[in-house]
Amino acid sequence: MEVIIRPDEDAVAELVARMIAKELRANPHLVLGLATGRTMESVYARLVLMHRQEQLDFSLCRTFNLDEYVGLSPDDPRSYRHWMNRTLFQQVNIDLRNTHLPNGQAADLEAECARYERAISRSGGIDLQLLGIGRDGHIGFNEPLSALRSLTRVKALTPATLAQNAPYFGGVEGMPRRAITMGVGTILECRRCVLLATGPDKAGIVTKAVEGPITAMVSATALQLHPRCTVVVDEEAGSQLQGADYYRWIFANEPEWEDYRK
Ligand code: GLP
Repeated sequence: MEVIIRPDEDAVAELVARMIAKELRANPHLVLGLATGRTMESVYARLVLMHRQEQLDFSLCRTFNLDEYVGLSPDDPRSYRHWMNRTLFQQVNIDLRNTHLPNGQAADLEAECARYERAISRSGGIDLQLLGIGRDGHIGFNEPLSALRSLTRVKALTPATLAQNAPYFGGVEGMPRRAITMGVGTILECRRCVLLATGPDKAGIVTKAVEGPITAMVSATALQLHPRCTVVVDEEAGSQLQGADYYRWIFANEPEWEDYRK
C-alpha cells in the first residue's frame, strides 16, 4: 500500500484525476472501476474539464461501478446509475453501452450478481478501481463482516450506512435497505486500486484501514493484501496516521510520483 497525503480535497481530486487520465491516455481501452459518493464528485468534475479542455478521450473506455441500490430504477434520480449518468457519463464522450452498473431491479438478484461478475471477466478485468470509504470502513457496500473473498452479491446496509446516505433520500425511511455490490474479492482482483478519503470525519476509519489489522469488520483493511493499492487522503483525513512522515517522504522522493508533485 502507498499513502499520499495532499493539502486539501481539491488537491486529492486533482491528483487522482491525473492518475486516471495518464492511464487512459496510455490505454484508450482502459477498464475503469468507478465509485459514487461525495468524495468522487470533484474527481469526476476534473475529468469532465480534462475532456473539454485537454481532449481526454473516453470513447473506447469501459466502466464498471461498484454498486447499486436494490429496487431503484435507472430513471430514479437517487439511483447510482442516474447519478453516474449526470455526474460523468453524459458530460464526456463515453459510449453509454460501455458503462455498467449492477441492475438493482433484476427479478433474480442472484443471477444478476453472477452476470455482473461474468461481464467484468469478459471485459478482461478492471484495470483501475476507484474507491471511497464509508464511515464503517466499507468499500463499495461491503459492510462489516463481508467475507474478504466475497464476490458480487446483495448486502443489507448497516444503520451507519443508512444514516450516512440518508440525505440523498430525504431521510432513512424512504431508503432501500439492500444493495448489490462487488465483493471484497472482486475488488482485490482489480489490477490497481485507488482509495480516496477527505475530511476530518474519515480520519479514524482511514487510520484503521491503512494501519490497523486486517479484519472483516473493516472491509477496507483487505486492501492491505492488494499488490498495487494507493490511498490518497487530504491532511484532515490523514491526520491520525502514525506513518505520515514516512508516507510524505516517499511521495516527495520516489520517481514514480515526480509528475504528480508539480
Ligand atoms: C457510499 C458508496 C461507497 C462510498 C461511500 C463514501 O456508501 N456505496 O462506495 O465509498 O458512499 O461516500 P462519501 O464519498 O460520500 O463519503
